[in-house]
Amino acid sequence: MPTWECCCSGFLKHMNNDLISRATAARERSLSPYSRFKVGAAIRTKSGAVYDGCNIENASYALTVCAERLALLKALSEGERDFTEIAVVTDAATLTPPCGPCRQLLWEYCGDIPVRLHSLQNLDQTFRLADLFPHPFDNRSL
Ligand code: THU
Repeated sequence: MPTWECCCSGFLKHMNNDLISRATAARERSLSPYSRFKVGAAIRTKSGAVYDGCNIENASYALTVCAERLALLKALSEGERDFTEIAVVTDAATLTPPCGPCRQLLWEYCGDIPVRLHSLQNLDQTFRLADLFPHPFDNRSL
């Protein structure tokens, strides 16, 4: 299982790079001819299984599916229910945090997991989902 530690700047630092490798490989399968912005994601379950995803775009732009969402939905559709962490990989000059709808979905099904953001341009930072999504609408609101 991965271990976590807090570095001096207060950010969580991940000690295991396999999720980054999986997300990087998934990113290569991105179908993003419109934005040309390739994203890969990989999510780990409590039992240690890893599911990955890439962004898939469509000429009807709004039908685009983000990498994080695809990884999560693949896992959920296989019956997975407990998640421990997710990684998102791009090649951008700044880190790429999950979009709003992905944060909503991740919160619903994963809760306050670590979200590791990685750029192939040698950037890497990990956040808690609760920090990225501080005032959620969820079942407590219903
Ligand atoms: N995208 C993701 O897959 N995940 C993110 O976290 C941000 C955005 C995709 C959607 C679209 O295919 C492209 O990146 C540009 O927005």
